[in-house]
Amino acid sequence: EKGGFASFMEKEVHDQPAAVADTLLGRSDSAGRLTLDELRIDPGQLKRVKKIIVLACGTSAYAGSVAKYAIESWCRIPVEVELSHEFRYREPIVDADTLVVSISQSGETMDTLMAVRYAKEQGAKTLSICNTNGSTIPRESDAVLYTHAGPEIAVASTKAFLAQIVATYILGLYLASLRGNLFTGQIRDIMADLNKIPGKITDILDREDEIKELARSMKDEASVLFLGRHVGYPVAMEGALKLKEIAYIHAEGFAAGELKHGPIALIDDGQPVFVVVPSKRGRDSLHAKVVSNIQEVRARGAKTLVIAEEGDEAVREYSEFVFYVPETPTLLMPLLTVVPLQIFACELASAKGYDVDQPRNLAKSVTVE
Ligand code: F6R
Repeated sequence: EKGGFASFMEKEVHDQPAAVADTLLGRSDSAGRLTLDELRIDPGQLKRVKKIIVLACGTSAYAGSVAKYAIESWCRIPVEVELSHEFRYREPIVDADTLVVSISQSGETMDTLMAVRYAKEQGAKTLSICNTNGSTIPRESDAVLYTHAGPEIAVASTKAFLAQIVATYILGLYLASLRGNLFTGQIRDIMADLNKIPGKITDILDREDEIKELARSMKDEASVLFLGRHVGYPVAMEGALKLKEIAYIHAEGFAAGELKHGPIALIDDGQPVFVVVPSKRGRDSLHAKVVSNIQEVRARGAKTLVIAEEGDEAVREYSEFVFYVPETPTLLMPLLTVVPLQIFACELASAKGYDVDQPRNLAKSVTVE
């Protein structure tokens, strides 16, 4: 059932081209019109939405953080991303013009379920992005967009994360078309770029030995840091979470710009630092800033491990190790840049002899608050 892989996690990392393709399947016609699975909200009401609040925990919340960049850019609606368990305890401002989007692989996470119920009571419209058909959160929501990642067995989430990002993008494009923020042609172009993602993930998986070798060489590290900016920031957070939960190594993700405000004090000789580098073809200044962050940590002795876009030669001279991902528009980059970080954590944990599918102290579905 593991399809020849040593663990479910490794298999599920390799399921990702299909998870993305299946989540995209049948969503748009040639005219660029998009469909959701269940919609018990009047489209007129969706048109009037003034604010989106994304509620989720853990990896699903990082998918939400990625979504914020895309939805705000395409729809010009403010998006707040909040951990479900924090949301309910701060008197959040929610009304009938708020769309609450919950993201949950299992659909049973108690913290998220309680947050969705609370939002409903306050009069918000609720939309569930979920990987488990008929589970509690989608059943209690006004609208549903299912991710088609297939059952995720390993405790650490991988393919569901990619499928969640894709689903939030479909939602963003749907809202943008409903509200007239993007032209049909633009939506079609973005869908075409999304449809190219599965092949690009396959390209990364074909070169996984590069990252596996690095992981094995780092099995005795005590701490690994992860830096990113823009959509690379939640990717850095997710890379750190994967390493903590399955390899039990201290890991922390930071927004690269925050370095000089404190975390740079952590850097000393030999400290491994992953840096997720944005595309050079995107906003030029963003790329330049991250390259100078690489230089800053390296000057203080860090071992710089870089995830960059193919053709980005600028990073080479400051990096101990570079893994290249295929070119794709900036907002889609997380679907590629997270993959080497998942492989890194999985291989390192295996090299330490841990059961990567069943990490200590964790359960697949967290059904207690
Ligand atoms: C991390 C992980 C957890 C879950 C979180 C939410 O690898 O699996 O952080 O993402 O517990 O679970 P769902 O998405 O089922 O609500």
